[in-house]
Amino acid sequence: MSSGGRLALALSVVVLLAFTAPCSAATLQAGFYKGKCGLVDVESVVATVVAAQFARDRSIVAALLRMQFHDCFVNGCDASILLDGSSSEKTAGPNLSVRGYDLIDAVKAAVEAICPGVVSCADIIVMATRDAVALAKGGRYGVQTGRLDGKVSLARNVNLPGPSITVSQAASAFAQKGLTISDMVLLLGGHTVGIAHCSLFQDRLYDFNGLGKPDPTMDPKLVAALRPRCPQSATLDNTVDLDQNPTSALVVDSSYYKQVLARRGVLQIDQELASDRRSKSLVATLANATDFSARFGRAMVKLGALQSRLPGEIRRSCRALNKRR
Ligand code: HEM
Repeated sequence: MSSGGRLALALSVVVLLAFTAPCSAATLQAGFYKGKCGLVDVESVVATVVAAQFARDRSIVAALLRMQFHDCFVNGCDASILLDGSSSEKTAGPNLSVRGYDLIDAVKAAVEAICPGVVSCADIIVMATRDAVALAKGGRYGVQTGRLDGKVSLARNVNLPGPSITVSQAASAFAQKGLTISDMVLLLGGHTVGIAHCSLFQDRLYDFNGLGKPDPTMDPKLVAALRPRCPQSATLDNTVDLDQNPTSALVVDSSYYKQVLARRGVLQIDQELASDRRSKSLVATLANATDFSARFGRAMVKLGALQSRLPGEIRRSCRALNKRR
């Protein structure tokens, strides 16, 4: 190619880049919204709405933690889970029981009312989760902001780990996202709050591995306690607390690890963390750790740093793409 040709090619690449929609892989920073909405402190608007919901229903903490995981694991933290549509991510099996969409709508309405078109839905998920964890005594970690909302949301892209996956399989799913096995063990600490449907661990109570007996790794007392709530012939899919310590089922603390050490993990993956050679020592450490909150917070920040490389925008409604003007 002649030098003139090369120059023309280089120029056309520059022009193309300049006119491409912004990429979701924005630079994240602490306090991104400072000064972007006049004197309004965006983070405290978010915190106020979350606190009001928490006062009504503390289960919002679990809803948001799971929502952030399910959002960030599919195409990065780009709020793709929030988009409505007949084949969008929220219609995929693992997302059917994700909750908290109304709270996100309420936060978005509050920020749009005072500062339209500035705060992304992706950042709202991350900020609201951080606030909810702090309210549930999980400590306050500092989050970075500046994410854009993605434009692609397809159920077929949802490839989240299932409850009966092995630790090795789960670890490779996390490794594909650049997260270590320690990150995974810490993030699974999110199961210190929230609920699980009986259908997702029923086999452990009655017929583990098709042998007609309960999972031998589950404390028989827990098997007996969960069976009435999860009868074999049930027509309703009931739920039970993931943290089977009744005094801390709504608290973000290290009780989850104590429970799995006592063979009282509800999901198979939870229980396997206590026996797999790659995870068991960290589980034992975390069960008695005084710095669980700080470590969990750091892992949540790492989860929140997963980014999409696709073009993004600041959605006006978290449930729909912006209309072309
Ligand atoms: C290997 C990884 C994981 C697997 C296999 C897994 C699996 C599950 C399953 C099967 C449920 C029950 C869902 C239902 O019954 O509807 C659940 C609930 C939950 N998960 Fe996970 N999870 C994983 C990682 C995480 C992570 C990383 C977080 C957050 C940091 C998280 C937070 C939660 C929360 C809070 C709930 C309760 C949700 C609610 O109460 O609505 N999970 N998880």
